[in-house]
Amino acid sequence: MYSKEQIIAKILSEKSNVIQQEKGSVYAPANIALCKYWGKRDSTLNLPMTPSLSISLAQKGSHFAFEVLDEEKDYIKLNGQAIDEQHDFYQRLFSFINLFRQNNEPRLNIDIISTVPIAAGLASSASGFASVVKGLNILYGWQLSCSALSVLARLGSGSACRSLWDGFVEWQHGSRDDGMDSLGVPLNIVWPQLRIGLLLASSDKKSISSREAMAITKQTSPLYTLWPEQVATDLAMIKSALAEKDFIALGEASERNAIAMHATMLKATPVISYSTAKTAAWMQQVWQLRQDNLPVYFTQDAGPNLKLLFLEEDTADILQLFPNIEIVQPFS
Ligand code: PMV
Repeated sequence: MYSKEQIIAKILSEKSNVIQQEKGSVYAPANIALCKYWGKRDSTLNLPMTPSLSISLAQKGSHFAFEVLDEEKDYIKLNGQAIDEQHDFYQRLFSFINLFRQNNEPRLNIDIISTVPIAAGLASSASGFASVVKGLNILYGWQLSCSALSVLARLGSGSACRSLWDGFVEWQHGSRDDGMDSLGVPLNIVWPQLRIGLLLASSDKKSISSREAMAITKQTSPLYTLWPEQVATDLAMIKSALAEKDFIALGEASERNAIAMHATMLKATPVISYSTAKTAAWMQQVWQLRQDNLPVYFTQDAGPNLKLLFLEEDTADILQLFPNIEIVQPFS
């Protein structure tokens, strides 16, 4: 078993930790998994049990600006609001950044603008941690590849390793104990007609963190033994659907994968359910729309919100049916 510090030392062994740039700003997109990551084989390094595959959300993500300070303390603003040191978000962010600093130096002034709702199962931690490692890469002038940054981002939050690229990204789960082969790999596929619709049921903080929920599911759900096989089937289907631009096959496999993940959680003890009445009503609506020949599918992460998958040609219908939907063009 390795510690995060050991992995960071391996990746940065030849890099200096002298400040190269006192100020900078970077951006990382959020990503939505079409084939989900659920369950870890190593919870320190966030090494997953299975591979997963996501689509990045273009302009929905995290803008991260930093400035080196000559002070005794760090500061963060999130969406323009100062965050107190006692706040979870402050502590999670700086305990990650401290893995890379000596004696908490240099002190930083950080400004994060998140264009996705924080902690509502809308992948804000993925874009957040990916943007932090991109920022540190500039601060220290490491000049690391996106692949190396993907390994570092994973140490902050698993799904962050997929947020180093636009478009479709596969997280290859790898088999090494040090996780050096567990990272994002972008797929060379562009699908300009694909749309993702964000349906926000709530932007409240999740009832249970994905870290805790994954551990409980893996330990207690009798369905978890089926999960790796489910992922293998769905991932193969999704990759072939992407290669052939077969939207129906993509939608079927993605929706089935999300349902299987949530069904597996429902069999955990204690039961884990992220859905609300609104989530269930939207699901029914999507199934009815398909019966009425509108090709629309959903996926759901660790929260009550749904993400719809549809094609550009159906945008007007979707907007009329879901007036509050926020539509993302991943390849804009
Ligand atoms: O990376 P985490 O710990 O935020 O977990 C992400 C889990 C899901 O969003 C439900 C699935 C995924 O692959 O993104």
